[in-house]
Amino acid sequence: MSELIDPALPKVELHLHLEGAASPAFIRGLAKEKGLDISGIFAEDGGYDYRDFWHFLEVYEAATSTLQSPEDFRRLVLAVLEDRAEDGVIYAETFVSPDFCGGGDLGAWREYLHAIEEAAEQAQNTMGITLKGVVTCIRHFGPEKARPIALCAAETKGDFITGFGIAGDEKMHHPKDFAWAFDCAREAGLRLTAHAGEWGGAQSVRDALDHLRPERIGHGVQAIDDLALVDRLAEDGIVLEVCPGSNVFLGVYPSFRDHPVDRLREREVKITLSTDDPPFFRTTLVQEYETLARTFGWTEADFRSINADALKAAFCDEATKRSLL
Ligand code: ADE
Ligand code: ZN
Repeated sequence: MSELIDPALPKVELHLHLEGAASPAFIRGLAKEKGLDISGIFAEDGGYDYRDFWHFLEVYEAATSTLQSPEDFRRLVLAVLEDRAEDGVIYAETFVSPDFCGGGDLGAWREYLHAIEEAAEQAQNTMGITLKGVVTCIRHFGPEKARPIALCAAETKGDFITGFGIAGDEKMHHPKDFAWAFDCAREAGLRLTAHAGEWGGAQSVRDALDHLRPERIGHGVQAIDDLALVDRLAEDGIVLEVCPGSNVFLGVYPSFRDHPVDRLREREVKITLSTDDPPFFRTTLVQEYETLARTFGWTEADFRSINADALKAAFCDEATKRSLL
């Protein structure tokens, strides 16, 4: 089948989990080096294997358990950025969790971050891709664990760490339990995003907006079930980090045809497009664009406009944005 969208179209990806972008081969290699048996997380074809979203989170954490040192993260960043650059990505923001980088200890986090930043700089020089980090707490680890994570974020805000967010199981705890962490990050000058409305419905998006006051929402697609909320997103300029392939693979929507991304756009909500955890959902950004073009008739002009909106909503400074235009 001929391509509808040039695969080399320069892309801006705002919603990408660093550990979730690790290929099965990369994780298998680390497990082998360390003598860890994580064979249960792989399917016969070598890909990641899980039953549903909650099992996905378990498999994700098992895969992440192979990442045990700053050097492992340095290698991870290089491998991930090689894949993202192949997808035509010129600018990416990645969620990175101090929970998985020293368990929330600030000294250990600084060492991991140093390795991550060094790798990002190397990738910038050799592959021409720019990466920024969004420190992320994990909702199902609980609000107490989120506090040191927010402090790690606040202490290391800079050219690389530009934002703070929350991922994980949206059905656990309430956004108000994380208000302290978000206030701490906001006061440090970090930009804010929160996963909501992937599994928790429209009310979960409302709660995240009311209690965490983010400027972007990770997913947010279930807002479509509450049109007053959709209008609020549009009017307030809240940007959705939409990951259609992730939603379809995990069963939030049965198909791309049923996915609300086109309806959200029609109602003037600012949407961006990302892959979330591409090897887990057996997707690439090129594939996402192609499927969206076929399903909704979106053209290259639509994708250019979505990427321009994504760059506007990016958490990096204006000079970085100008360098990418
Ligand atoms: N962590 C990694 N991927 C995620 C997703 N799709 N939703 C919530 N937390 C995540
Ligand atoms: Zn996500």
